[in-house]
Amino acid sequence: VGLQNRLPARGNLSLEHLCLYVCSCPSSLPRLLIVYPWTQRFFSNFGNLSCPTAISGNPMVRAHGKKVLTSFGEAIKNLDSIKKCFAQLSKLHCDKLHVDPENFRLLGDILIIVLAANYGKDFSPACQAAWQKVVRVVAHALAHEYH
Ligand code: HEM
Repeated sequence: VGLQNRLPARGNLSLEHLCLYVCSCPSSLPRLLIVYPWTQRFFSNFGNLSCPTAISGNPMVRAHGKKVLTSFGEAIKNLDSIKKCFAQLSKLHCDKLHVDPENFRLLGDILIIVLAANYGKDFSPACQAAWQKVVRVVAHALAHEYH
C-alpha cells in the first residue's frame, strides 16, 4: 500500500487543500533562515538577511521559498514515486549546493509549525501525524542520492 493511501483524504484539511496551501505559502523558507541562522550561508547571494524583518521582506527569499514549496507540493502529488521525482534535485543539493541533509529535516519541521500556526485547531493530531510522515519521506528522498 502506498503512502498516499494512508493519508487522510477528507476533513477540514484534505491533502489537496494543504497541497494548495503549501504551494502558495512562502513563509517557510524565511522562517528557516530566522530560526536556524546558519542556513543563511547557502543564500549569501540573496542580499540583505541582517534581521528577521529584512529576511521576511526579502523578495529573493520569498521567490525562492515559493519555488521550494512548489516542488514540495509536486512531491506530495507523487508520493509513491518520490525518490525518482527528486533524484535530480537530490544530486543538485548534494554535488553542487553541498546542503547537509539535516537541513531538509529542519525545513520539514518548520513547515509543520507554519501549518499549525496558520490552521490552529484544524491542524489536528491526526493531520500532524500524516504531515510528519510526508516531511520525513520528502527529506529522505532528497537525501537519497547523497554519497
Ligand atoms: C535550489 C527544492 C531544501 C538550499 C532549489 C531548487 C528547488 C529546491 C526546486 C531550484 C533548483 C533549480 O533552480 O533548478 C528544495 C526542496 C527542499 C529544499 C523541495 C525541501 C525540503 C533546501 C534546504 C536548503 C536548500 C533546506 C538550505 C538550507 C538550496 C539552494 C538552492 C536551492 C542554496 C539554489 C538557490 C539559488 O541560488 O538559486 N531547492 N530545496 N534547499 N536549494 Fe533547495
